[in-house]
Amino acid sequence: MKRQLHLNLFIHGRGHHEASWRHPDSSSLPLTDIRYYQDLAQRAEAALFDSIFFADQLALGGDVAQAPRTWLEPITILAALAAVTSRVGLIATASTTYTEPFNLARQFASIDHISNGRAAWNIVTSWLAAAAENFGGTGQVAHADRYARGEEFMSVVKALWDSWASDAVIDDQTTGAYARLGRIRSINHRGDFYRVTGPLNMPRCPQGRPVLVQAGSSDTGRRFAARYADAVFTAHMAKATAQEFYADLKALAAAEGRRPDEVLILPGLSAMIAGTEAEAERLAREVNELTDPEVGRKRLSGRFGGHDFSHLPLDRSLSPADFPDPASVEAARSRTEVILNLVKRDQPTLRQLLGYLAGARGHFVTAGTPEQVADLIEDWFTNGAADGFNIMPPLLPAQLDAFSSEVIPILQRRGLFRTEYSGTTLREHYGLPWPASVFDDPNFKGELHGAAAGI
Ligand SMILES: Cc1cc2nc3c(=O)[nH]c(=O)nc-3n(C[C@H](O)[C@H](O)[C@H](O)COP(=O)(O)O)c2cc1C
Repeated sequence: MKRQLHLNLFIHGRGHHEASWRHPDSSSLPLTDIRYYQDLAQRAEAALFDSIFFADQLALGGDVAQAPRTWLEPITILAALAAVTSRVGLIATASTTYTEPFNLARQFASIDHISNGRAAWNIVTSWLAAAAENFGGTGQVAHADRYARGEEFMSVVKALWDSWASDAVIDDQTTGAYARLGRIRSINHRGDFYRVTGPLNMPRCPQGRPVLVQAGSSDTGRRFAARYADAVFTAHMAKATAQEFYADLKALAAAEGRRPDEVLILPGLSAMIAGTEAEAERLAREVNELTDPEVGRKRLSGRFGGHDFSHLPLDRSLSPADFPDPASVEAARSRTEVILNLVKRDQPTLRQLLGYLAGARGHFVTAGTPEQVADLIEDWFTNGAADGFNIMPPLLPAQLDAFSSEVIPILQRRGLFRTEYSGTTLREHYGLPWPASVFDDPNFKGELHGAAAGI
């Protein structure tokens, strides 16, 4: 069989365009209504997407007067979606900087059980400076420190997920034997940031461990992804930078001793789709006209760690001197590089830059016919830029439906995308191996974990 594309649906507000929430083609259900997300999840599953994904920030944005977000907490959303779907993978974002590994390991293992093996965690270190104010208020944790903590966090959660063998549970109601103690072990972690004894207080989850997704793109972020991620989200405004990222990350994964095809790279794609190119462009203009440049200015400031752009006029060409040096930014450093590369290349005015970022915050934005969008996907997929895409419809649900009913059938006819699900778990959809633990080693002599079991 031909190499297969992987498609993830990124669910964000009423669509990825900043002004989508006002457009008549977007849903009018409240963004706190679970039926909205359940409906989208079911549409994604009917269209055979590998997975759906929810991002998260740990502070209210400064633009709430003019723009909503996805308001519900993502892990909680997954539990509600698991109950109304059976195949599609479920990815939620959670932070290594502002949660404890034991809580997080337990929550994602629970979602994996509830969904019968469809859970994934988007590992973030939380770039938004305001988040720090909600967790102790000692100020933004520096980029390098966030990743250092993230490294230790990962070794703790992985050890917790591996702390039960898959055959640890006996559950024999007649003999009264519930579990094999020799197949459950403490982790006894003592590190710089965490002290965790373990084991996890729950049996091993159906996928062994939840699937791990990551989206760091700075040098440190890439090395982190190469070590831990099964799938990598990334934002590119051009195919050339996506190819550079793809080659670099695959090489980094190989240097970590991993098989490059077991680290899937999924760049974002926000496509406005219509029957003709002119109609797609008209629709894109129509949504753009609903944009408020002040929302964009605030979001740009957030990306650059709170830098003040209020003095910049909207209609003069920008130069890199108008921005802080990305190396000094403690927020989403690599996205600031994406933005600065665009400024160097095109010298847009602030209004034009904000217009572009309004589309999908620095991800690839396009407008065209289903055929054109399918051509672009095939081109990136076959020319070393992507293993699949993080599909970011500008308007939800209308542009998800356009993608599902018009673009996916073309990809299927070209033999690039599944025509039915062949597996049931997300690990199977993504073609990932079982994550072996120490218990899978036949020479491992089980050890008792001692008093940690007493409740
Ligand atoms: C598709 C995508 C989704 C992301 N979702 C989140 C998110 O929900 N929360 C968050 O704090 N960061 C999110 N990020 C940001 C990344 O985790 C990362 O901080 C960012 O890409 C900058 O990389 P760097 O930290 O290595 O500089 C996302 C990035 C991408 C590309």
